Amino acid sequence: MWSQNKLSARLNIEYPIFLAPMAELVTPELAAEVSNAGGLGALGMWGFSLEEGVKRIDHFRKLSDGSLNINYPLWDDPGDLDATGIPMRKKIQTLYDRGKLGVIPAPYASPGQVLPDHLDALKEIKPELVSFHFGLPGEHIIEELKSAGICVTSSATTVAEARTLEASGVDFIIAQGLEAGGHRGTFSNADINMQSGLFSLLPQVVDAVEVPVIAAGGIADGRGIAAAMMLGASGAQLGTAFLRCDEANVSDAYRAGLAYAKEASTVITDVVSGKYARFVKNTLVEELSDPRLEPLPFPAQYNLTLPLGEPGDREFTDLLSGQSVAITREMPAAVLVHTLVGETNKCLNSL
Ligand SMILES: Cc1cc2nc3c(=O)[nH]c(=O)nc-3n(C[C@H](O)[C@H](O)[C@H](O)COP(=O)(O)O)c2cc1C
Repeated sequence: MWSQNKLSARLNIEYPIFLAPMAELVTPELAAEVSNAGGLGALGMWGFSLEEGVKRIDHFRKLSDGSLNINYPLWDDPGDLDATGIPMRKKIQTLYDRGKLGVIPAPYASPGQVLPDHLDALKEIKPELVSFHFGLPGEHIIEELKSAGICVTSSATTVAEARTLEASGVDFIIAQGLEAGGHRGTFSNADINMQSGLFSLLPQVVDAVEVPVIAAGGIADGRGIAAAMMLGASGAQLGTAFLRCDEANVSDAYRAGLAYAKEASTVITDVVSGKYARFVKNTLVEELSDPRLEPLPFPAQYNLTLPLGEPGDREFTDLLSGQSVAITREMPAAVLVHTLVGETNKCLNSL
């Protein structure tokens, strides 16, 4: 049975189907519905204080006694921003003017990291999995999490990154293909034009490492999960597909952007946030995609562009999305998990 393997056993889940941690877009209800249906729910700490994050985890625990993944995207403090991105800031101001949003704030950003009080909280909460994006934190953090019995993973966008993660002691590796929605998890400055789609990346990562590999990028139905399992994956992580679920905290403008997108609607760009990520292309992306306008360092650029979507216009909303958005479906999360399992069974049995 495809669903019973080392990965599902280690994480105590019925099906190795992972909800991607997607910051504030994932509600505790969404994570709980996925875990209760036998998959792995996830809650990201991006954008939340420790107190807020713990509240969300408590909420999840009230709704589910299933397994949980807690996620930390990691990035350095971009430092002094005063003199950065002046032409870009002028351009963004014209978009603020169009939306009657006033004067753009001075650029600001704080680092994404696992602070000591977070580590203490994680060791107390003991989620089944702590996942990272954009690399790994310091060695002692990995060691302490693992000594507390918590599994650790991160995303690799190349075979070399997968090898680095394995050598650093992760329990599993997420192979993130170029189709993926959201930010590229790359942490080795891998050239964006040289990164691979999942069909090519996944078997090469599987061949290169001993630990179980989770496939991510463009998987939206059971055909995708079955294909990933055939290519050697032990599980699949889906982001865009879960954004369409009733329980996701996704605005009407964002939902409409996803509903109308086709297979050729998305683009990878760094103009929205300062780091490469895949979005449904809209006016926001088009207006900022000018080679003369260098984006501010991540996430300062994001902090300036996100308010443009607040009035609810989908042309100015950041529409993070993977390439398979057009085959995603609107349904409750538990129904999606069961549908994915049924479709995967059907595909694999028909072989
Ligand atoms: C809206 C959105 C937000 C995301 N945020 C995160 C995040 O905070 N942390 C993370 O590890 N991955 C994040 N990802 C990436 C996912 O983990 C995963 O690689 C991706 O969703 C897989 O591609 P798919 O969207 O085509 O399923 C995000 C993806 C999306 C679509």
